[in-house]
Amino acid sequence: LARTTLSDITGRYAQREPLTMCTAYDYITARWAQASGANLLLVGDSMATTALGYDAPTDLPFDEFKQHLRSVCRAAGPAAIVADMPFGSLEQSIEHGVSSAVALMKISSKVTSVKVELGTPGVDTHTYALVQELTSRGIPVMGHLGLTPQRAHSLGGLRVQANGTVEQAVRLLESAQQAQASGCWAVVLECVPQRLATYITEQLQIPTIGIGAGPGTSGQVLVIADMLELLGEGAFRPKFAKRYAQLGKAAEKSLAQFTAEVQRGQFPVKGTHTFMMKDDLWQEFL
Ligand code: KIV
Ligand code: NA
Repeated sequence: LARTTLSDITGRYAQREPLTMCTAYDYITARWAQASGANLLLVGDSMATTALGYDAPTDLPFDEFKQHLRSVCRAAGPAAIVADMPFGSLEQSIEHGVSSAVALMKISSKVTSVKVELGTPGVDTHTYALVQELTSRGIPVMGHLGLTPQRAHSLGGLRVQANGTVEQAVRLLESAQQAQASGCWAVVLECVPQRLATYITEQLQIPTIGIGAGPGTSGQVLVIADMLELLGEGAFRPKFAKRYAQLGKAAEKSLAQFTAEVQRGQFPVKGTHTFMMKDDLWQEFL
């Protein structure tokens, strides 16, 4: 299958086809995501908490993220790969952000775009300046607005955004417009009221990919660990994350069965899970 290009994606957007993006963190999840038919595969820094056991995405080291991106790229398939820019890879300076993005693009020609969490125009100006610098160097950028988890402290926690005051709603719209003006080819809207996300989508000429933003965006993304309940039944799952499977529970149950069968002497079964040796060979050996 031919690899998906960004013009394939924007072509689908122009045809008003809903875009699908699936997160992946390693070779296994990337194989699943590639087989799913999703247009885009996001190697998100959500891997920090949902796959690597860190407390927050800000704990994720850049080198570790790159290892995971590398393993995702080893999975064959047509989806275009988007690499998140983790916390610490762009905050120091524009130059540092550019070199981090170059390092991500260098991992594989399959990396089609980076994703950058954006702040407020006129306040967090470096984020928009970085988008301009990257796009001028031929590195496509997907913006990320609304709930931007790397900025959880300054946003007052992981919560719905732009639903408190008119100013907040206006600021989100202006941020999305600024993302477009700075050169983003698409923008993720996370955890924002559905009617605002729909309105912003209508105002933009670039696609919006929603997560917890309702059905009015140009596409949807969910975190794979939430959708498949990889961390088991007890793990936190946000309201907007529909559960499509309970793989964590199924895995725990299967492994417990293996353990019990070994302990009871029920596995392996002679002749079924074992190799045989011819009698004459065995006699000669003895
Ligand atoms: O890291 C991630 O998975 C993301 C998505 C939630 C958009 O940024
Ligand atoms: Na992310």
